[in-house]
Amino acid sequence: MQEKLQAIVSETESALGSVEDMPGLEQLKASVLGGNGSLTVLMKSIASLPPEERPAFGQAVNKVKNHLAELFKNAVSDLNSAADAKALGEAVDVTLPPPGNYTGGLHPLTLATREVVSIFRAIGFTVAEATEVESEWFCFDALNTPEDHPARDEQDTLYFPAETRFGNVQGKADEAFVMRTHTSSVQIRTMMEEQPPIRVIAPGRCFRRDTVDATHSANFHQTEGLFVDRKVTIEDLKAVLDHFLRELFGKQVKTRLRPSFFPFTEPSFEVDLFSPNLGRLSNQWIEIMGCGMVDPAVFDQVGLDTGEWSGYAFGLGIERVAMMLHGIDDIRHFYQNDQRFLKQF
Ligand code: PHE
Repeated sequence: MQEKLQAIVSETESALGSVEDMPGLEQLKASVLGGNGSLTVLMKSIASLPPEERPAFGQAVNKVKNHLAELFKNAVSDLNSAADAKALGEAVDVTLPPPGNYTGGLHPLTLATREVVSIFRAIGFTVAEATEVESEWFCFDALNTPEDHPARDEQDTLYFPAETRFGNVQGKADEAFVMRTHTSSVQIRTMMEEQPPIRVIAPGRCFRRDTVDATHSANFHQTEGLFVDRKVTIEDLKAVLDHFLRELFGKQVKTRLRPSFFPFTEPSFEVDLFSPNLGRLSNQWIEIMGCGMVDPAVFDQVGLDTGEWSGYAFGLGIERVAMMLHGIDDIRHFYQNDQRFLKQF
């Protein structure tokens, strides 16, 4: 009997090795454990044994039965994972090109800012930064922008609610807070922290109460520049801006200063540039930035002696630079996070 049991085990084990699919496995299982299966038939022969041998035999058969049931169970899961692996293997078409290697990238506005900053760093400017929430004094008063100037209007500037006003900003009792409308506030913060000579470039975010369209955004970016030293002239300003614009847009660029007005510079200019290779904007004068000589009234506000110190300042829109460099026709592309746009940079 023991030999017969042993034979069933070894036959089943070797048959399992060559089973290829579920029907084959089911058939093998039935031929051993089914109603007429070899083990079942052997079990039934227990009746022909003398009563004293029956318990031991029953136990031996049960042991074998459990062992085989375990083997069948494992065989089922082996067959399933083999089938999965095969299906997956077939889904991969090795003749296809590999999937793209998608990595993150810098935003075009970050790239333009870095490009501008690196040109000025190379000629000795350092980067200055200040807060985007600014007090009215730093944003306007100190920049010689009077109370009734249109830039201070609620129409143009994003004010914080009246409850956020507080006193003792430069001795004022009731100071309003705004989202800075330009980076020029960094001029003031820098001159109050550092002694001249000063050479800073201040990139950052600005906010205006603008209705969004192809060329306006309520949130945009500027880069401010400030140079303070003894005997600074308009020639110094023009030379530095010419160098900057040629580095940025190419050596063929021509520039001109056109008289303009800013409360904090005197005289003030718009800088126009003319280039043969700016796509749709080629061969025409395009306004690119504002600039001027620091108004003595500003030096007075920050306590610098106007007899000794002079300087120039300039401000440039980063969106405008990026749009000109890449021929982008709508400012809204920068803020929509559309991968089809962003992937191009
Ligand atoms: N702050 C000005 C603007 O936002 C630009 C500017 C900066 C002009 C510095 C002159 C000097 O339009």
